[in-house]
Amino acid sequence: MRTILIAGNWKMNMGPKETADFFGQLDDDAQKNIEGVDAAVCPPFVSLSAAFSARKSGSAVKIGAQNVHFEDNGAFTGEISTAMLKELGCDFVILGHSERREYFGEDDAVVNKKVKKALAEGITPIVCVGEVLQERKEDRHFDVVKGQTAGSLDGLTADDLTKIVIAYEPVWAIGTGETATPEQAQEMHAFIREQLSQLFSEEAAATVRILYGGSMKPGNADELLRQPDVDGGLIGGASLKPADFSQLVDIAAGQK
Ligand code: PGA
Repeated sequence: MRTILIAGNWKMNMGPKETADFFGQLDDDAQKNIEGVDAAVCPPFVSLSAAFSARKSGSAVKIGAQNVHFEDNGAFTGEISTAMLKELGCDFVILGHSERREYFGEDDAVVNKKVKKALAEGITPIVCVGEVLQERKEDRHFDVVKGQTAGSLDGLTADDLTKIVIAYEPVWAIGTGETATPEQAQEMHAFIREQLSQLFSEEAAATVRILYGGSMKPGNADELLRQPDVDGGLIGGASLKPADFSQLVDIAAGQK
């Protein structure tokens, strides 16, 4: 059985002080180790230390980053390495988010190098895929997601696959208030799992968590998480408020 993952993507929000406040206000229940549910937040780089300091001792909420470079170290001004994230204690790193693809020119080849580097460092990559509205309108969404999945995971082994998380985020649903219907999400998640099973192995594909992302919030999470191939959420806006984040963790716990 796959453990549901509720992961907050804070994007370029929440400085160190707001991050500390978030953990200060987060309900104890949301920080408990809940069987069948993992919870994580991914603050901006500069707030990671604050997150580790403010997280209560014994809290089960994991901490991740939103990006990383694929080289070990060196002349890459403005970049952060996997070893640096590991030193802090990060469990996750979001890779290939559509905003990185759109505004920072990341393509599948770059995402692929980052995925391999994160795996080598023992950090779980959350690999994002998803089509833009035009691609869906032209009925190309399955092809687009298939290409992104194969390209981002190129050269991985079935064993590597069991150590990653995929996030399906239809770009038209991100930050727009528009959500994929539970049926649309399930259809794409099942399609991704089938791709993984063909590319790697059925056993490995069955273990991979596939998160849905795009305007997930307490009001729609239950229906989405009920879908058999939806194994959690990558949540932007609704993860910034401790009360909403806790509610999402509660909803996930209620699925068990
Ligand atoms: P949203 O963002 O929940 O604000 O739509 C999700 C994401 O981009 O990861």
